[in-house]
Amino acid sequence: MDLTPKRASESATEMVQVVLPNDANPLGFILGGTVMHLIDIAGAIACHRHTRTLLVTAAVDDLQFLHSIKVGDLIILKSHVTCVFTTSLEVQVDVFSEETLTGIRQMTSTAFLTFVAIDRDGHRIQVPPLLVETDEERRVCEEAHRRRGERLRRKAMART
Ligand SMILES: CC(C)(COP(=O)(O)OP(=O)(O)OC[C@H]1O[C@@H](n2cnc3c(N)ncnc32)[C@H](O)[C@@H]1OP(=O)(O)O)[C@@H](O)C(=O)NCCC(=O)NCCS
Repeated sequence: MDLTPKRASESATEMVQVVLPNDANPLGFILGGTVMHLIDIAGAIACHRHTRTLLVTAAVDDLQFLHSIKVGDLIILKSHVTCVFTTSLEVQVDVFSEETLTGIRQMTSTAFLTFVAIDRDGHRIQVPPLLVETDEERRVCEEAHRRRGERLRRKAMART
């Protein structure tokens, strides 16, 4: 297994697709569930690029939909790894709408997801460290540690 540290920029991912009628509710806006599906995919791709392993989604944090995205607009999802723990890692996915005729962009959601790396037998495996080089990257990773603590606290509560 290759545990060479990697920069977040090496796995950062951008996905763009046009919102089609099949993705939409009767008002002509993309379904929340479709956005959640795309968030999961965009997050997983960045984490696959970082780890080059199989992964499962362990957690998705609280998600807000700030603006609707209508049929014919573009949905853009940008994902990057924020912090790596031992067998798990956190990824941030920012979602934007873009009007095709004007180019006007709006951020519609930000999501934090945690993925766990597994081998083909389902055993958890270590993931390559994240190269954290700037003060901003250190701040982002510290915040990810705080969110991780909160997630694990909520998970423990859900189990009681
Ligand atoms: C996610 C899963 C592997 C965790 O298994 P577990 O036995 O509870 O895991 P552990 O407590 O040993 O934790 C393993 C790692 O996952 C992290 N983790 C587990 N649950 C987590 C959660 N809810 N939020 C954040 N991190 C979590 C732990 O912090 C640990 O990370 P670390 O090694 O980097 O410190 C397991 O619950 C699972 O397989 N869930 C189903 C996943 C799934 O089907 N997803 C949807 C389809 S892909």
